[in-house]
Amino acid sequence: MPNTRAEILINQQVIQDHYRMVLKLDGNDKPVRPGQFFLIKANSDYDPLLRRPLSVHRISSRPNIIEFLYRVTGKGTQIMSRRSKGTSIDLLGPLGTGFRVPRSQSNFILVAGGIGVAPLVALSDELAKFRKRSITVILGAKTRSLLTCEQEFKEVGARVIVATEDGSQGDKALASEVLEDLIKEFDLRKSTSPFTSKDTSLITIGDYRPEVGLYACGPVGMIRSIAQIARHHRIQIQASLEERMACGIGACLGCAIKTRSGYKTVCKDGPVFDLEDIVWE
Ligand code: FES
Repeated sequence: MPNTRAEILINQQVIQDHYRMVLKLDGNDKPVRPGQFFLIKANSDYDPLLRRPLSVHRISSRPNIIEFLYRVTGKGTQIMSRRSKGTSIDLLGPLGTGFRVPRSQSNFILVAGGIGVAPLVALSDELAKFRKRSITVILGAKTRSLLTCEQEFKEVGARVIVATEDGSQGDKALASEVLEDLIKEFDLRKSTSPFTSKDTSLITIGDYRPEVGLYACGPVGMIRSIAQIARHHRIQIQASLEERMACGIGACLGCAIKTRSGYKTVCKDGPVFDLEDIVWE
């Protein structure tokens, strides 16, 4: 596992409990892809012992500069939020599978719930490099004060649909409900695909190439709902399941999920999975 150190260039609060941290990696020669993550050590002590898994939020065009957006959820991220500019931090990565972006697609829908927005900004930056493309982002949060990154998506030309659970900004809806509406708008049903198969069972990556790429990241409840939508409409959605990680190194098996090909760990086999492969229990 590639271990490296980095200098903290920026570590500042962006909204309530959410911080943006920009690092300059000390000699990482592995390319970093949207959807991958790093394990970051909050401090140099043994407490907390475990590194925190943070997905890559933005990948700079400048060498070895990457950004993270993280939410303070416990001791480790609390300590991390107090780390100051100019100090050195220890991390492992890049780790995990990134999002796959087939070049055949030109329309993309990204569904972000809460801090799940973090890796989807890196993805939208990548998609923006496509010459002809349209990007629609469903940006969901519990309430207005927890919304972030709308501007980043708009800067790459994305259409942003904001949804809050309490209706304090945008649609009063869950992100998954907005996705249902968009599916009708894009007419993503399998029956309209030129690659329609006679088999009515769920399609696999190999036999279906949808014209619209769908990606999601957010809390487990949201991902479950989106998986049901994907199954109902027989569409393929890639989702990052990072919320399910604990140790991040394959040691605790706390992130094991059942898939059609047996149990897999989110931290080592993911965090990006095709939702149709997951068996929800
Ligand atoms: Fe511990 Fe994946 S988080 S094994």
